[in-house]
Amino acid sequence: MIKLHDLYFKPFISEDEVDTIVERMVNDIANDMQDEVPVFVGILNGSFMFVSDFVKKYPKPCEVTFIKLASYEGLKSSEDIHRLIGLTQDLSGRKVVILEDIIDSGNTLEEVNRIFENENVDELKIATLFYKPEAYKKDYKLHYIGKEIPNKFIVGYGLDYNGLGRDLPAIYQLKTTQYMTNLVLFGPPGAGKGTQAEFLKETYNLVHISTGDVFRFNIKNETALGMLAKSYMDKGELVPDQVTIDMLNAEVEKNADANGFIFDGFPRTHAQAEALDKLMDSKDSQINAMIALEVDDEVLVGRLLERGKTSGRKDDANETVIRNRITEYYKKTAILKDYYTAQDKYFGVDGVGSIADITKRLNAVIDTL
Ligand code: IMP
Ligand code: MG
Repeated sequence: MIKLHDLYFKPFISEDEVDTIVERMVNDIANDMQDEVPVFVGILNGSFMFVSDFVKKYPKPCEVTFIKLASYEGLKSSEDIHRLIGLTQDLSGRKVVILEDIIDSGNTLEEVNRIFENENVDELKIATLFYKPEAYKKDYKLHYIGKEIPNKFIVGYGLDYNGLGRDLPAIYQLKTTQYMTNLVLFGPPGAGKGTQAEFLKETYNLVHISTGDVFRFNIKNETALGMLAKSYMDKGELVPDQVTIDMLNAEVEKNADANGFIFDGFPRTHAQAEALDKLMDSKDSQINAMIALEVDDEVLVGRLLERGKTSGRKDDANETVIRNRITEYYKKTAILKDYYTAQDKYFGVDGVGSIADITKRLNAVIDTL
């Protein structure tokens, strides 16, 4: 992440990807130009880096010139385009390709078209490295588009935010902070995790994402991800983390306006915890806390044996099975406890007492986040 003036930006398009995009545009345009010597017209300031890389890659003779227009103030495009340097040479009869760094509202492009109205060029084509289709309000045809991007502010590779960022070789996207409370909830079998998740959901208006439920939902409804997950399970293989993450992503996106999420049953490994961090980061958010209900083994065994008498669940009835499940749980949590402790995000909560008391303890932790 980088900071320019008062704002934060996150990596969006790598230097390598930009290079690949520029190369593809060069090839497309060189093919179309055949034996003509085109005049490339860069729109300053933003396009200087693009034009420079573009003409270096261009395989045949060409000419390069610039015009300088200004429209952007801060984060917004304005209707009022200033023509700072116009055309300084006669381009009549020439094949002209405008090289733009980015087309947003299309206001700048309109001014470019106005400049060329009476120039009697043979052909005027528009090439833009980036294009924001959601922001574009004009009808001018864009002949070459490097990459379509969402309507979010970017910097780097010639593009600036109030003067800064033009020098960066890669593209960064504005980070919009999301104020969410995202919890990873842990607890050994019998700790009362399900019960407490219900209260947390209510009190903080969070969405409870239980990985088990998400799997069952996707498989039952035969979603693409569900079928993919099932294909691994049918072979007796573990479902790859990416598939699970994609399912969680779909759940998070379904609830885009939530106050936050309770993740239950995920992550289980260090790699999954990292993948979850990445997912939350892509949503401009983060995991705020791992909350683990702590209950003494003997209490758990007692509770589960008690539950087994009435629940009919076979795995609740046998003490050896219960103890194995508890041991298994601690093995898995230890890794995550370390992971979140290192980030100061681990909170152990005493899970012994009345349901109401435990809820109070959980709320006290969350209220400090
Ligand atoms: P338009 O006139 O709205 O199409 O915007 C075109 C000009 O606005 C570009 O040449 C850039 O200088 C600037 N611009 C548009 N979007 C961005 C952005 O996301 N970051 C930085 N500058 C931008
Ligand atoms: Mg520009």
